[in-house]
Amino acid sequence: MLFKLLVILHTLGATVWTGGHLVLAVTVLPLAMQNRDPDRIHTFEEHFEGFGLASLLLQTITGVWLTWIYFPGFQNFLAFQSYLSIYIAIKLSLLLGTLALALHARFFIIPKLTQETLNELAFHIIGVTTLAVLFVVMGVGIRLGGLS
Ligand code: HEM
Repeated sequence: MLFKLLVILHTLGATVWTGGHLVLAVTVLPLAMQNRDPDRIHTFEEHFEGFGLASLLLQTITGVWLTWIYFPGFQNFLAFQSYLSIYIAIKLSLLLGTLALALHARFFIIPKLTQETLNELAFHIIGVTTLAVLFVVMGVGIRLGGLS
């Protein structure tokens, strides 16, 4: 029962994190770029930031918990003997990449966001969104017993 609940929470968190970033990248960002208007992104971020970060935290907690269930005590996890540990390790790398991009944007780009720095933020948004989609692809790969 716990395992099923964790998978449901993990999937729900994925809809928020990946769905939210797809909305940002596909609908809000093009309009902001077209009108050279960073405020459109600010407005979206204001509403999404807390919810989005909570969902990323939920993904991390439920993801690590699921990993613990698959590899109790994380034993054999780092031996990379199965597609499962390889996919989970890829997800952990995606998490590091996401955190690096998000922290860089939060502390170095967003505070001085202007029409001139909009392009830089656009690259970050596209990067985080791509990683968010890859999270889903890898996660579904785990459920399907591998993607090949
Ligand atoms: C934003 C980040 C993440 C997203 C969007 C995401 C998305 C997903 C999705 C869509 C699934 C498939 C669920 C299913 O069909 O059963 C999944 C499964 C899984 N994810 Fe994640 N994930 C994220 C982060 C993580 C992290 C950080 C870890 C672990 C370190 C992790 C570990 C797992 C595991 C072990 C499964 C397999 C669960 C099962 O048996 O179905 N995920 N993930």
